[in-house]
Amino acid sequence: MKTAEYSPGLEGIIAGTTTISHVNPDRNSLMYRGYDIKDLVQHSDFEEVAFLLIKGHLPTQSEYDAFCNTLKQERNIPQTLIDTFKTFPTNSNPMDMLKVGVSLLALQDPDKDDDSHEANVRKAIRLAAKFPALIAYSYRISRGQDIVQPDNSLKHGENFLYMLLGKKPDSYIANVFDISLMCYADHGFNASTFASRVTVSTLSDLYSGTLAAIGALKGPLHGGANEEAMKMLLEVGTPDNAEAWVIDALATKKKIMGFGHREYKTGDPRAAILTEMGAEISNKLNDTKWYQTAAIVEETMRREKNILPNVDFPTSYIYYLMGLPIEIYTPIFAVARIAGWAAHMIEQLDNNRLIRPKALYEGPQHLDYITRDRR
Ligand SMILES: CC(C)(COP(=O)(O)OP(=O)(O)OC[C@H]1O[C@@H](n2cnc3c(N)ncnc32)[C@H](O)[C@@H]1OP(=O)(O)O)[C@@H](O)C(=O)NCCC(=O)NCCS
Repeated sequence: MKTAEYSPGLEGIIAGTTTISHVNPDRNSLMYRGYDIKDLVQHSDFEEVAFLLIKGHLPTQSEYDAFCNTLKQERNIPQTLIDTFKTFPTNSNPMDMLKVGVSLLALQDPDKDDDSHEANVRKAIRLAAKFPALIAYSYRISRGQDIVQPDNSLKHGENFLYMLLGKKPDSYIANVFDISLMCYADHGFNASTFASRVTVSTLSDLYSGTLAAIGALKGPLHGGANEEAMKMLLEVGTPDNAEAWVIDALATKKKIMGFGHREYKTGDPRAAILTEMGAEISNKLNDTKWYQTAAIVEETMRREKNILPNVDFPTSYIYYLMGLPIEIYTPIFAVARIAGWAAHMIEQLDNNRLIRPKALYEGPQHLDYITRDRR
C-alpha cells in the first residue's frame, strides 16, 4: 500500500484527478474545462458555463438553446414540496430548507432508480434548474410571503432574482448577478465538492452527494463567508471606522470573513473580477459607502497581514446593493455551485474509486478493560 505524509486539513494533498476546473495559485488563475474565468465572464453566461461544466465542452448554438429550454422546463417544483415548505418554522435557515427541499426532490425524481451516466446528467440539470425555486419558494413562504412563479422569458439568474424579490431586475443587475454565478460555479476540490465526491464514491446517488455538499457549504469557512462578510461590513458601519475596526479585530485574533484562501495566497481571480464589478455597481447605484468601507478593510488587511480578499468579500456588498437578504447569500452560492458539484459527482462516478483516507491514530492503545462496577 502507498503511504503518504500527514497534512492537517489535507493541505497540499492531491486527493484525486479532475478535468473540470483548474485552480492555479501560481498564476492566480481559474479555468473551467480549460477556459479562463476572465474570458468566461466576458463572453459567456451561467447557462453556458453550467453546460460546459456538466457536459465537458462549450455548447453549439443548438445545444445551448436545448439546454436553456430544459432548464426552463425543469424550473418548477412539485406542489407537495411547496405544501411541505408551509410547515417549516417561520424564518427557518435557507440552507437548512434547501437540504429538506433536495431530500424531497430525491423521492420524486423520475430517474431515482437509475444511476447511469445519462440519468446522472439528467439529474444534474434537473437539480440545477430547480435550486432557484427551492430557495426562493422556501424563503418567501418561511417569511410569510406568497411565492412568485417562474417567468420563462427570463434567464436562469434573473428568474431567480425575480422569484426571490418579486420584481424583475434590470438588465445591468441581472448581468452582474450572472457574473457572480459564473464565478461561483466551480472551484477544484473545495470542501463542499470534495464532500459530494466522497459521498458518491460509495456509489451513493447524486442527491445524497448534493446534500453532503450543501451541509459543507453552509459553514462560515466556506460558503457561509459571504454572509459573515456583509454582517462584518455592517458592524464596521462607515469607511472612517474601517481601519481601526480591522486593527482591533486582528488584535483579538478575529478572522476577517471574506479574506484568505487555502489555495490562493497572492490573489483570488474571482475577487479581482468582482471587486471591479463592486466599484461599478456602487457608482451606478450612487451608493459607494460599502465599496469604500470594503476598500479600506482590504487595504488594512493587506498592510497588517498581507491577506487578500476571496470571492466572498465583493459578492457580499454586491448582493447587499442588489437588495438581497443576507441569509440568502450562501444559497446563491449553491445556485451556482450545483453545476460544479454535479459535474464532479458525475466525473467521480464515471471512474470511481472509494475515497477512504487513513487516520493517524494518536490515542491510547491496549488498555486493560475495567468493568463498570470497578471504575
Ligand atoms: C479560508 C481559510 C479557512 C483558509 O485558511 P488556511 O489555508 O487554513 O489558512 P490558515 O487559517 O491556516 O491561516 C494562516 C494564517 O493566516 C491567518 N488568517 C487566514 N485567514 C484570515 C482571515 N480571514 N482573517 C484573519 N487572519 C486570517 C490565520 O489566522 C493564520 O495566522 P497564524 O499563522 O498567525 O495563525 C481562512 O483564510 C479563513 O478562515 N478565511 C475566512 C473565511 C473565508 O473567507 N472563507 C471563504 C474562503 S473562499
